[in-house]
Amino acid sequence: MSSPAPRENGSEPEEAYAWLKALFDESPLAIGFSRGGVVADANPAYARLFGYGQVAELRGRSLLEQIAPSHRSRIIELLAQRARGDRLPHRYQTRGLRRDGTEFPFEVTTTQVIVADGPLLIAFISDVSEREDALQALKASEERFRTLSAAALTEPCEVTALRTDGSTFLAEIRGTTLSHQGRPTRVATLRDITERKRMEAEQRALGERIQQAQKLESLGVLAGGVAHDFNNILTIIMNGVELAKNDAGLGPRAVAQLDAVSLAAGRAAELCRQMLAYAGKARLSREPVELRALVEGTWSMMEAAVSKKATLERDLAPELATLVGDSTQIRQIVMNLVLNASEAIGGPRGTVRVSTGAGTYDASAFARSVAGGALKAGRYVWLEVRDDGVGMDASTLGQMFDPFFTTKFVGRGLGMASVLGMVRGHGGAIDVESSPGRGTRVRVFFPACPGQAAPSAPALTPQVRGQGVVLVVDDEKNVLLSIDLLLRGFGFEVIVARDGLEAVDAFRARSAEIDVVLLDLTMPRMNGLETLEQLRRIAPAVRVILTSGYGEGPFGGEPRRCEGPDAVLPKPYAAEHLLATIQRLMSK
Ligand SMILES: Nc1ncnc2c1ncn2[C@@H]1O[C@H](COP(=O)(O)OP(=O)(O)OP(=O)(O)O)[C@@H](O)[C@H]1O
Ligand SMILES: [Mg+2]
Repeated sequence: MSSPAPRENGSEPEEAYAWLKALFDESPLAIGFSRGGVVADANPAYARLFGYGQVAELRGRSLLEQIAPSHRSRIIELLAQRARGDRLPHRYQTRGLRRDGTEFPFEVTTTQVIVADGPLLIAFISDVSEREDALQALKASEERFRTLSAAALTEPCEVTALRTDGSTFLAEIRGTTLSHQGRPTRVATLRDITERKRMEAEQRALGERIQQAQKLESLGVLAGGVAHDFNNILTIIMNGVELAKNDAGLGPRAVAQLDAVSLAAGRAAELCRQMLAYAGKARLSREPVELRALVEGTWSMMEAAVSKKATLERDLAPELATLVGDSTQIRQIVMNLVLNASEAIGGPRGTVRVSTGAGTYDASAFARSVAGGALKAGRYVWLEVRDDGVGMDASTLGQMFDPFFTTKFVGRGLGMASVLGMVRGHGGAIDVESSPGRGTRVRVFFPACPGQAAPSAPALTPQVRGQGVVLVVDDEKNVLLSIDLLLRGFGFEVIVARDGLEAVDAFRARSAEIDVVLLDLTMPRMNGLETLEQLRRIAPAVRVILTSGYGEGPFGGEPRRCEGPDAVLPKPYAAEHLLATIQRLMSK
């Protein structure tokens, strides 16, 4: 195969020239020769590019004739520099002028050869109109986009957008008017904001949960602090009233007034307990509690408390429904539920039905539950309060456990919040079913106690006459005084001590005579538990009742250990409860 390139051995110059001539004539690239700024020769592509019919028409013309007037000075300069022998840009872009007067952009690559007649400039020229147009179009499009983006920043508005398939989505529309090709044009951008909205809602919900948790936390701290002092004060009031009522010479009016004080103090104590319960700090004891007996034991109290419109009915399963927990709290749960049910009676008469039972349940039974979505399958006891009252709509149902949520004129909105706190504390769950006009059913599940129920505490007799020696230890002078008075009033001999150290000294001196020690938990110098330890060292069998103004002491929620106190009394306690506890310990 013979090479198409011309051979350079000089033996075939005509053939080489023929090759070069063919290349020059047929090249799609415009090629021109010039000398001193005048066209010496050009190829047909050059002639075509500049709009000349014949190459011959170009020869002898000034190069500048093919340059747009606006670019000529630059070319003149370049040619002058070239004449001085400067290194010129080898390749540059400029604007050409066709014979018909139209302009176009071209790119030129130049080189210089020295021939017999002097330097000859060779130019290779390519039309870059298309590239320029594309660039211009790109710039224009960018410009439009920039205008649009700037415009998109104005007037956002949220709409529900409709797809062709009929489904909808949330969209944000921003619009503006701008000038396009000289005409005012309305431009709108539409963005699907479904995902953004979902994330915003999630974030809001998270924020609310955090806020809720913080509210609970701070209320807990507040409740704990207030309850301590408050309960001490209530203990004094309640003991004082109890003692005064025992006074034989009292007239009926004075008794009635004392009863009113007693009732008010009881309400205050109840509020305090509810606050502690809500804050999850009120768990005190863990003892077997049998629901049936508990409901029966509180029945007359409930009948007295509910509104006259409500008929109270009970449906207690014959089997034992025993759980492990705090009977005071369970009583409070029943009471709160029954009160809410009776307050929901809208018409002239209604029924509130209290039921108890036990059974084995699988996890699906707790699917709708409030505090116990995670309850496992197993054996549970339950307590149900059902009413045929006004019922609740979905929104009320969704908020009924929120602290301070109430729809009642005089409601505080703490009832269900504290029920929830107490049920949680017992590892239980609450299931509520309600609809407007169709009444409400609240069922509370508690994990069943694996053993048998303990017999419920014997009824308390305020008329007891005590006998024996009680050592009372409390750093609050007034509390000490009131308990001293109360116990003496009921026939006990009382020794008082203002702190742990005094108590240990007093006990060491008379340990053989002292039957029961009533010991406050929080005291300076030596706290209740440390004092208890010292007392047990002196006499291991000493019977000790620990009292605390804080709902939950360090022993709260723990099963009672043998080295711990024999009984725990949260302040404020009813006088009869204190007396009954002392009697129970003495009879051991
Ligand atoms: N059995 C029920 N029937 C209808 N609505 C109820 C029932 N139980 C509770 N609710 C609704 O839930 C709200 C919150 O109840 P919750 O016991 O927490 O507060 P309250 O009864 O309003 O006030 P408080 O119990 O503190 O005196 C009530 O105000 C009521 O709207
Ligand atoms: Mg209530």
